[in-house]
Amino acid sequence: MKSKDLLDELDKTRLPRHIAFIMDGNGRWATKRLLPRKMGHKEGVKTMRAVISDCVRIGIEVVSLFAFSTENKSRPKDEIDALMQLIRDNIYDMLKDLIAEGVKVTFMGDLSYFSDDIRESLDRVLRESAGGTKAVVNIGLNYGSRDEIVQAVNKCVQERKTVSAEEFKQYLYTKNLPDPDLIVRTSGEFRLSNFMLYQAAYSEVVVTKTLWPDFDNKALVSVLKEYAQRNRRYGKI
Ligand code: IPE
Ligand code: IPE
Ligand code: MG
Repeated sequence: MKSKDLLDELDKTRLPRHIAFIMDGNGRWATKRLLPRKMGHKEGVKTMRAVISDCVRIGIEVVSLFAFSTENKSRPKDEIDALMQLIRDNIYDMLKDLIAEGVKVTFMGDLSYFSDDIRESLDRVLRESAGGTKAVVNIGLNYGSRDEIVQAVNKCVQERKTVSAEEFKQYLYTKNLPDPDLIVRTSGEFRLSNFMLYQAAYSEVVVTKTLWPDFDNKALVSVLKEYAQRNRRYGKI
């Protein structure tokens, strides 16, 4: 079945408002094929592009993607260089059509880590998409949830503010976004790896064995069908 037909099968009343992807398994995808790890990341960018556009097309309001963690910075230099080159080459190009359709893009993470030219591309994406109302695409770049929470606490202390759990959200990178309804992790790992620890309090989690570069629209439909069957109780009965 064609991509469009498959996605059209979904019950649109049972979709997550906010779906978040921990895009894992690029390295293993490449290693399995006797390719350098960076080829897995390159393939992963293609998947990212397709998944974002599928999610927006079916009407998901917020799509978050974990692209680069604070811990990923400790990988070998050649891998970091390859990742930076991919960001440099793809970040604007990957998003420009969606921006033209009215998608707003946000980034979460400490962007000061990135080189000037990358930050210029990120700024361009933010600037050009600022007025978008169709959906939000939120990308984690040098993102770590512990840093995010500690930074938020420090800000509250500086402002001498005592805040509620709900008000605290305004101090996080994800301010103004709803909490993720669904967190999808690819490559079979059952962990959050420092992703949205505060926001994930009541998120449904789906782990799929599929490696991120292989995560096609069939895999997307499958996780969305699984989500549609979940019974969310939020501690109630
Ligand atoms: C996810 O793939 C992408 C990033 C973390 C940047 P990995 O690079 O973690 O791939 P594996 O987990 O080693 O297969
Ligand atoms: C999580 O994947 C980070 C991203 C997907 C960006 P990792 O590959 O870094 O996580 P661990 O090391 O397996 O926990
Ligand atoms: Mg990994």
